[in-house]
Amino acid sequence: MGFKKLLIMKTTFGPQKIMFPCPAALVVTGNMDKANIATIAWVSLLTSSPPTLGVSIGQKGFTSNEIKKNGHFTVNIPTVEIMKEADFCGITSGRDIDKFTETGLTKMSSNIVDSPIIKECPLNLECTLEQSNVFGQTNHFAGRIVETHIDTGKLKDTGDYTSFDTEAMNPLIYIGGAREYRKIGEKTGDAYSIGKSLKK
Ligand SMILES: Cc1cc2nc3c(=O)[nH]c(=O)nc-3n(C[C@H](O)[C@H](O)[C@H](O)COP(=O)(O)O)c2cc1C
Repeated sequence: MGFKKLLIMKTTFGPQKIMFPCPAALVVTGNMDKANIATIAWVSLLTSSPPTLGVSIGQKGFTSNEIKKNGHFTVNIPTVEIMKEADFCGITSGRDIDKFTETGLTKMSSNIVDSPIIKECPLNLECTLEQSNVFGQTNHFAGRIVETHIDTGKLKDTGDYTSFDTEAMNPLIYIGGAREYRKIGEKTGDAYSIGKSLKK
């Protein structure tokens, strides 16, 4: 193996909530008549069968109440082009304003749940609430993914595991800790494959 053993010093910070990259996901609650958007970076896949994701949302927030009340929501991944709109949805509350009207983002009907999806986001996941847990001040909602939408123009027919063009999706990335947005970088390798060269 060819890498050098460099002397690296570490600075410790105790318990912190630094994680990156995170999606700057837009969680939509409500229905086609009255819907809200909240920017939520604490999103992760929980299990593959059935496909389920988790979102961590402030317990007293408007979005938490809406998810508990309605039992469904959608998760929408914005592009870098709508960064300002995505940020706006994270610094304002649906208690005070209609964020679809204020941002100009477009509601589209979901196939299965009542909460709409956002047209300008290339990936949209419809979720039904499966479970809800409280950690400190935060609700952790497990949502079963019941439908997936991807912009047709961003699909790629490669026969690969992934079937979309990652660069064309241009997802907005959030760096927790530094509080900054980034865009995705270039492909560096094939997952589940590049490490095989180290196998003995
Ligand atoms: C980049 C970014 C990421 C955020 N991530 C989360 C998160 O993971 N969980 C959370 O509860 N709030 C998060 N927020 C804050 C909420 O979006 C914010 O409290 C918002 O006002 C909630 O909207 P609502 O009152 O309409 O529900 C984030 C805000 C920004 C700007």
